[in-house]
Amino acid sequence: MKRIGIHKPTLEDVIEVSGVEMLHPGGLELTRRSAEIAGMQPGMKVLDVSSGRGTLAILYTQEYGVEVTGLDLSEEMIKIASSNALSKGLEGRVAFIQGDSQALPFSDNRFDVVINECAVGIPDDSQKVLDEMVRVVKPGGTIVIHESTWRKKLSDDEKTELSERYGTTPLEYDEWMSMLEKAGVTDIVSEFEEWSKPEMFWKLRAERDVRSFSEVLTLSERLTTFKRILGKYGIKGVIKAAENEKIVRRTILEEKVGYCLFKGIKG
Ligand SMILES: C[S@@+](CC[C@H](N)C(=O)[O-])C[C@H]1O[C@@H](n2cnc3c(N)ncnc32)[C@H](O)[C@@H]1O
Repeated sequence: MKRIGIHKPTLEDVIEVSGVEMLHPGGLELTRRSAEIAGMQPGMKVLDVSSGRGTLAILYTQEYGVEVTGLDLSEEMIKIASSNALSKGLEGRVAFIQGDSQALPFSDNRFDVVINECAVGIPDDSQKVLDEMVRVVKPGGTIVIHESTWRKKLSDDEKTELSERYGTTPLEYDEWMSMLEKAGVTDIVSEFEEWSKPEMFWKLRAERDVRSFSEVLTLSERLTTFKRILGKYGIKGVIKAAENEKIVRRTILEEKVGYCLFKGIKG
């Protein structure tokens, strides 16, 4: 679904400018679970689609001995991820390049694992993202996605409004399954309830155990985020960001939206 940007800055926009190191619910716990179900083994070639600040790609490299390429649309994210990898002495083992997940700049059948944590629903054409992920993974290789999923039956209007405020387009569980199948993914297994719990939504920090939405950012991080939103979107943007946060937060606590982890094989 193409969102038209009527509620900018979306919650995703705010999370991205806030500087948090992980941009997906479930935190490192989910990242490690993704690596495990992907069967990551030393020497495997892994593509992390929409790699953000590089936290996941770095963890896969350090803990699983795989060679990771991270791809992200944002030049700023690529710079941050590359500098994070450099500071950890991982030069040559993990690389970050700029590109669009809807048109991956890689030849066919190149990676053992292609993974996308929380960013299939962000671009206009989620089916294209999945098609591209399948194109670049080797036959028999593994696809893993972790995606926002409606947990309750909502009207189309409510779904559209929430997607605009969130900045990503959640789908129903069956819709994700059929899109994965359409892309050519077989043997799909999924984990739903665990990753859909509201408390997963505030597990965004690598270094701190966070127990509520209000603990995600420290006071000084909140101030920095406020200043960045003000600078980028003006005072109306600050008001809109607060409104979006309140509405999406309520949607999460009412368990209308959650996240599902899917794994499958390129048939
Ligand atoms: C929710 S964050 C997820 C980042 C990372 N996977 C994580 O979990 O920390 C979404 C990321 O998708 C990137 N992104 C948005 N549209 C994209 C596109 N069309 N192609 C590639 N990356 C994109 C954003 O720049 C951002 O880094």
